[in-house]
Amino acid sequence: MTTQEEVQLVPMLVGGEPTLAKAGGTISVGNPARLNRPIAKVPRALEDDVNTAVQAAYTAFQSWRRVQPRERGRIMLRIADAMEAAAEEIAVLIATETGNALAPQSRPEAKGAADVFRYFGGVAGELKGETVPLGEDLLVYNRREPIGVVGGIIPWNSPVLLGALKIAMSVTAGNTLVLKAAEDAPLGVLRMGNICNDFLPPGVLNVLTGYGEEAGAALAVHPLVRKLSFTGSTEVGKSIMHAAADRIVPVSLELGGKSPVVVYPDSDNDTVVQGVVAGMRFTRQGQSCTAGSRLFLHESIHDSFLEKLVSKLQALKVGDPLDEATDMGSIINQKQFDRVCQYIEDGIGQSGAELVLGGMPPQNGPLTEGYYVTPTVITRANNDWRVAREEIFGPVLVVVPWSDEEEVLRMANDSHYGLAAYVWCQNIKQALNAAHRIDSGWVQVNRGLGQIPGHSYGGFKMSGMGREFSLEGMLDSFTQRKSVTVNLA
Ligand code: NAI
Ligand code: MG
Repeated sequence: MTTQEEVQLVPMLVGGEPTLAKAGGTISVGNPARLNRPIAKVPRALEDDVNTAVQAAYTAFQSWRRVQPRERGRIMLRIADAMEAAAEEIAVLIATETGNALAPQSRPEAKGAADVFRYFGGVAGELKGETVPLGEDLLVYNRREPIGVVGGIIPWNSPVLLGALKIAMSVTAGNTLVLKAAEDAPLGVLRMGNICNDFLPPGVLNVLTGYGEEAGAALAVHPLVRKLSFTGSTEVGKSIMHAAADRIVPVSLELGGKSPVVVYPDSDNDTVVQGVVAGMRFTRQGQSCTAGSRLFLHESIHDSFLEKLVSKLQALKVGDPLDEATDMGSIINQKQFDRVCQYIEDGIGQSGAELVLGGMPPQNGPLTEGYYVTPTVITRANNDWRVAREEIFGPVLVVVPWSDEEEVLRMANDSHYGLAAYVWCQNIKQALNAAHRIDSGWVQVNRGLGQIPGHSYGGFKMSGMGREFSLEGMLDSFTQRKSVTVNLA
């Protein structure tokens, strides 16, 4: 068995150079499908390291801001090609460090990251302002200017894709970036950072590894960081917003969700069942902020829909993330595994709860070799239960039967979250009316798949603020508008 001493130390990226932590600390990166057996170690960045990285980004900003947007776009397109060429290698890294299965999740994530660079590279020339018609004697125009050094903090659940978004949006818009990877999933992000660094001037992108309370918190309060962009838990999101408030810097937050899935009585068929499985992100073990984790199933189709759902879920192969046949890998770490188990225990212990599939993880057999939880469905749930209100971030689908449309839309909106939502209904008029009444930043109608670059994505309520994934998101969240007024008289 490998010990931490024998594994490779993968450096950070600061000022264009491979860099270790000044104090010499390291963090072990483990494979959760092997109960966190060490696979590598990364530097444990502290405040001192954050300062150096921010300074490098600040220096690089002075010239990067003057590079023509289309030239910045061309660099993004070259990065996209290089990311595509390295996609398989990155996919294996992601699968190994996160436990996300290669075929359904890690490989599409690596390819999706290349696609993100390609999208933003393509729209770079659209970073334009407008003129304002205030009469013949005045020339008034707006410029979209970069903000400065961006502090980006990302989680482990989709690390390379979320990192690619922060990099592509900030850097294309002319900002420079200090990106802190999640301690559980830094390897794919570091690999991506090195690819970007082959094309970007030194210091435009800096990638740090370290703990949230140390490196993340130091980045959030750094006086030279002029914009904060965070993806992760609502709890940490609040602390980021506090840090931003102290210095009056803009902040984008992409936080959690407890997204409702409303299935109408006309939608009791295999396509919808497949869509609900996809929407719940079972092939990411439910570790997705957009997971459709509250299933509102019409009473009249409850039994027959669940029967089909169970047979689809039973067919999912849970196991080794690197095996091409695997549909579902492992939970990210022991802490999240314990959390998910506590929710399952709590949910099935409620009076009236019916466990339809899954439950507590197996106590013996191959699935005890990693943090595996099998697909779990609990029905006859009450929308007030903890399992129906809190983000579980595991493969646990909670089903609430309904019979009255007003009541189901009220329940769908009865949540402090408002990230995603799913409406399954053949009657398009009814479906769109429901979509418009649901308080979520993103509603999908008769579709359960993920985001596509080009549509703005972000939350209502405590799911966050700011938009990502689109040109408008980049303009709104990563540039600042300057108005110039010229007297022509
Ligand atoms: P987290 O919010 O603690 O971690 C996300 C990132 O924030 C990591 O890079 C971490 O190092 C950093 N961070 C942590 N504390 C920080 C601090 N005080 N200052 C600055 N940065 C800090 O999420 P965690 O603990 O990994 O997961 C807990 C729960 O959060 C999950 O069960 C899930 O409900 C939610 N979550 C939501 C995500 C989403 O995509 N919306 C992603 C990850 C977690
Ligand atoms: Mg945490």
